[in-house]
Amino acid sequence: MEVTNVTEYQAIAKEKLPKMVYDYYASGAEDQWTLEENRNAFARILFRPRILIDVSKIDMTTTILGFKLSMPIMIAPTAMQKMAHPDGEYATARAASAAGTIMTLSSWATSSVEEVASTGPGIRFFQLYVYKDRNVVAQLVRRAERAGFKAIALTVDTPRLGRREADIKNRFTLPPFLTLKNFEGLDLGKMDEANDSGLASYVAGQIDRTLSWKDVQWLQTITTMPILVKGVITAEDTRLAIQAGAAGIIVSNHGARQLDYVPATIMALEEVVKAAQGRVPVFLDGGVRRGTDVFKALALGASGIFIGRPVVFSLAAEGELGVKKVLQMLRDEFELTMALSGCTSLKQITRNHIVTEWDAPRSRPAPRL
Ligand code: FNR
Repeated sequence: MEVTNVTEYQAIAKEKLPKMVYDYYASGAEDQWTLEENRNAFARILFRPRILIDVSKIDMTTTILGFKLSMPIMIAPTAMQKMAHPDGEYATARAASAAGTIMTLSSWATSSVEEVASTGPGIRFFQLYVYKDRNVVAQLVRRAERAGFKAIALTVDTPRLGRREADIKNRFTLPPFLTLKNFEGLDLGKMDEANDSGLASYVAGQIDRTLSWKDVQWLQTITTMPILVKGVITAEDTRLAIQAGAAGIIVSNHGARQLDYVPATIMALEEVVKAAQGRVPVFLDGGVRRGTDVFKALALGASGIFIGRPVVFSLAAEGELGVKKVLQMLRDEFELTMALSGCTSLKQITRNHIVTEWDAPRSRPAPRL
């Protein structure tokens, strides 16, 4: 069957992948309320399209941290991509680079920063989990920098792993033929089997729960790469992130895999954008599956969005080609949304092109006499 939208890859991935792997990719935390809400919230934002504007030429290009991209659609870090397809992160890196956009490589990738760099030119960010052993962190950041990565996405919502019940039931662990490649030489590349989720135990053993704002400043002493703080969903933390020297903010709830019952990221976005006051760019990830979703995020003030699950599902289905198709479908849908809304460049996308539940009614119904 022909795939005509991004969501359809999920069912194909479910058919193809071992249950333990599919569940790891698909799951959210606990009741998975936020997982559904990340999608549902987009459906409550409607358009106010403008008509009779010449839309024969649409420009989707943008500049992110000084890098020119073909579109504001980027790839979020998702761990262990070789469980989805033997080419794993190599395929994702090539697909992103061919599409003229950014790939963010997970700390927990099954390919190393050097291996991903070897796939050829491309603008790449490195997602960082801060380990208790700061020498490990410093080494890894230096390696990413040397391999040509352009920014750090510091994940700040994971002092402990969220409770993903499918992973507990499946006794999730990294298949024995794979390693967390970035940590292989440091003897931290393997995940032991545990009585619950092997990943949750790994995090409990290795990840630094004491991580705080001063560490964001410390990171800046060991690298010149700009730091994006990934996992902010409040105005308070937006202000603190900027004070701590963040070069940008990623509004993220970790694909609903950490704290359940946090709002959908698209609901939290505007609060963060307002608090940032244009001082740093704000990005969003979580539930983006359509070009219309991309448009809505930009209308609420995001400079760009990242996609997570669509990458691993399309990788599982069709490898590099699948990821390319996902990026192309989102691009095409976003271009169409711009045309049908009367916008020919990203600058023209405004808050007035959408209406949300929290907007004041524009016209009140006439009182009944
Ligand atoms: C993730 N995410 C994630 N985030 C991170 O900072 N480091 C990581 O290693 C991972 N790994 C990971 C694996 C899988 C399978 C998923 C689904 C997610 C979170 C990810 O970067 C992003 O925030 C969400 O995936 C965005 O939501 P969507 O697009 O998946 O709905």
